[in-house]
Amino acid sequence: MHIDLKQCEHIQKEAALELARIASREALEQLRLKYFGRKEGALTAVLRSLKDLSEEEKKTIGRAAHETKLYLEDALAKKEQALIEAELHDQQRKEKIDVTAPGTRVLEGHLHPLTQLIAKACDIFTAMGFAVVEGPEAETERYNFDALNVPKDHPARDMQDTFWLEAPGMLLRTQTSSVQIRYMETHQPPFRIVAPGRVFRNEATDATHEAQFYQLEGLMVGKDVSLANAKAVLEVFFQRLLANKKIAVRFRPSYFPFTEPSVEVDVTCFKCFGKKCAVCKRTGWLEVAGAGMVHPTVLANVGIDAREWQGFAFGVGLDRIAMVRYGIDDIRLMYGGDMRFLKQF
Ligand code: PHE
Repeated sequence: MHIDLKQCEHIQKEAALELARIASREALEQLRLKYFGRKEGALTAVLRSLKDLSEEEKKTIGRAAHETKLYLEDALAKKEQALIEAELHDQQRKEKIDVTAPGTRVLEGHLHPLTQLIAKACDIFTAMGFAVVEGPEAETERYNFDALNVPKDHPARDMQDTFWLEAPGMLLRTQTSSVQIRYMETHQPPFRIVAPGRVFRNEATDATHEAQFYQLEGLMVGKDVSLANAKAVLEVFFQRLLANKKIAVRFRPSYFPFTEPSVEVDVTCFKCFGKKCAVCKRTGWLEVAGAGMVHPTVLANVGIDAREWQGFAFGVGLDRIAMVRYGIDDIRLMYGGDMRFLKQF
């Protein structure tokens, strides 16, 4: 390669023009390689070919090449410094904190109305000596039906009423009564427990029916526990829950396969307090639970001697209570997760 003075001049000019257009450190590095690259750098090639020049040429061209090198090194260093400063400036501008700007408010959540109700109910029963226990939502046919003395051909077992799971004999529990069996299998009387939890029914949904809802199961077994005790316990429960000593409970005859005798439990309408309104269909009463004396067959199924032990069980529907108490007219709102609804509680 033959070089002359013009070449050095040209390199300087071209580099100056290119440098002026560069806006990033990556581009600057590309430019550095273009001139100083070990293999293809334009200036590297010039410096390398100096050795082929005559002594005379070395003096003039060699010096020019060297000056070009110094000039370029200096220009690149200055440009790099300028780019670093610009970057820093940019960053500071973006990260500027306005200490006088108002803070962003952190939204505070709260417990779902049903969760609040369950907590309150458990408090009340705990104070009456009941233990709070839980059972699984995915149950076996035995705990949900068989051990509870529900006949094999009972319509509640139909596909239309029960969510059967793919695993044979497994279902989503239709009632918290399954927890009675689980508890009695593993404990000896006397005992008193409540078991709150979600249950599932495969039914058409509307304002008063959901495929999922909450129950609170109660069970008390002892030597001489009676339906009168059930009535007293339920009455105290509702009086404390609704903070009203005038609330009364009444029993109406009913039927459940796992209790005998069985009753429907009504409580004084806590919308109108007995004055008769639309919510209680002008009866002054609200149906809130099923109850009864634990059937001897159920006791036998879990190995408890029915000649020695007896007791009551009840299942309270929690959604209805929350709805009447808070004036909610559609049960589906409970499970919709709509903040406009939830924020009200
Ligand atoms: N398990 C019944 C239901 O879901 C309620 C109930 C519980 C009735 C315990 C009697 C005793 O309807």
